[in-house]
Amino acid sequence: MKITGHTKICAVIGDPIEHSLSPVMHNAALQHLGLDVIYVAFRVRGEALEDAVKGVRSLNIYGLNVTMPHKTAIIKYLDEVDPIAKDIESVNTVLNVNGKLIGFNTDGIGALNALRYNHADPKGRRVLILGAGGAAKAIAYQIAASNAEKIVIINRTGEKAKELAKFLRKRFKVKIMGKQLSTITLRKALKETDILINATSVGMRPYNDQTLIDKQWLRRDMTVMDIVYDPVETKLLIDAKNIGAKVINGIDMLLYQGAESFKIWFRVDPPIDVMRKAIIEELERRTGNAS
Ligand code: ATR
Repeated sequence: MKITGHTKICAVIGDPIEHSLSPVMHNAALQHLGLDVIYVAFRVRGEALEDAVKGVRSLNIYGLNVTMPHKTAIIKYLDEVDPIAKDIESVNTVLNVNGKLIGFNTDGIGALNALRYNHADPKGRRVLILGAGGAAKAIAYQIAASNAEKIVIINRTGEKAKELAKFLRKRFKVKIMGKQLSTITLRKALKETDILINATSVGMRPYNDQTLIDKQWLRRDMTVMDIVYDPVETKLLIDAKNIGAKVINGIDMLLYQGAESFKIWFRVDPPIDVMRKAIIEELERRTGNAS
């Protein structure tokens, strides 16, 4: 594309950031649609966040994605924050409207859309979420808001699972429980699960062979989603696929959260397939498995 004095800039900020797939994904969509925008990545250290946000204003950076470790810390520097992002204390998307910075969170809606587009709407279903960190909170919030029948949150640090369940119970009528990770709690919860979501980092490269779930507890009538996208097929997803369960990989969540950010910035639906192809090609390039 031709970069001129009119070209707008979008960026992702985080630390580390070099391995972010967002530039590849968004630039593919921007080019496909012929928009005069480029998307870059900036490594911003914690202590530099305030200055970075000032820079967004002064350089008129049009849109921002925010990733670890800034999702909560950035809130105090923004002019407005969408009610859900405020409630979960996590912003991953910023829109710059003539110098006014407005924060949003698209992680939860991204996960929800990943489920819906894969014909696994959580409405009326029993959902088990592994993890109680930032990602799990955003996902659990949207699943609770979409009238799941029941949500069980299981986390290594049991207290965090219980706290998250309490937080959600105050806001939604859905039956929600938080439990400490153990063989017993997992096995019991899995017997009453339609949709299993791994929202922990377990299974991420280089620990590809790790999973929290013994494959004999999986059933073919389950949907199994993993937020880990590197590797694309985690051990959990391989096990689930082998018994014939429906699987949704981490690329879908990445894609749909990115698509929601794109809609906030440009008010158009981005080309999902183009974005997916760009991500897969980049992952293949990185692992040297280009086929
Ligand atoms: P994110 O914002 O991506 O959710 P996070 O807030 O650091 O990141 O949360 C990571 C999640 O993965 C947590 O639920 C964490 O469990 P703890 O709360 O007990 O730390 C979970 N996690 C990470 N490594 C894990 C492991 N080896 N076994 C089980 N859970 C793990």
